[in-house]
Amino acid sequence: MAFTIAIDGPAAAGKGTLSRAVADHFGYAHLDTGLLYRAVGKRMLDGVEPIEAARALMAGDLSDDGLRSPEVAQAASKVAVIPEVRAALLDFQRAFARRDGGAVLDGRDIGTVICPEAEAKIFVTASAEVRARRRFEELLGNGTETDFDTVLAETRERDERDATRADAPLRPAADAVILDTSALDVGAAVAAAIAAVDALRQGMSAG
Ligand code: DC
Repeated sequence: MAFTIAIDGPAAAGKGTLSRAVADHFGYAHLDTGLLYRAVGKRMLDGVEPIEAARALMAGDLSDDGLRSPEVAQAASKVAVIPEVRAALLDFQRAFARRDGGAVLDGRDIGTVICPEAEAKIFVTASAEVRARRRFEELLGNGTETDFDTVLAETRERDERDATRADAPLRPAADAVILDTSALDVGAAVAAAIAAVDALRQGMSAG
């Protein structure tokens, strides 16, 4: 049986941690769709034309360690405004969403464009300052040299580009549950997301 959980939200809102925990809890497969755009962004930085890179993308490209860097994040956000890049990545994401046994996909447009029929939609957000602080600490932790103001500026720049692009801009689906994690620790955010999905599942079986 297919059951899709769509988890969308801005950069560094905690979607990744949350999505993995929710997928583990329900025993569903998980796809971090940002990795698709990051892999295309990285190929662009290597000199490959982004539309061609998107069309040639393979599953193995997603496990590249280099995809987590701030440079690749900015490149991902830039290739993500190109409609042909988005179109090339659509079928893979849709097939993943409707696979048997349940799936959690996290990204920007899962509940609005990739899988509007998803049974559960969660829009995870937090203030730009809180998100930049988390990302800053993560970068410090893995030894990347940076300062908070740079990370905050990059977070805002990416928000602006992701939310104002013409094709599939970042926005909550009309029927998404909004989860603001500004004042929640990881455990509380995970519990709230699981509770939201459980409530939707119960609503389905009751209706
Ligand atoms: O979630 P992330 O930071 O790994 O995403 C990197 C970029 O990819 C993000 O700035 C916008 C783009 N993206 C997108 O446009 N649609 C998605 N479903 C996921 C990511």
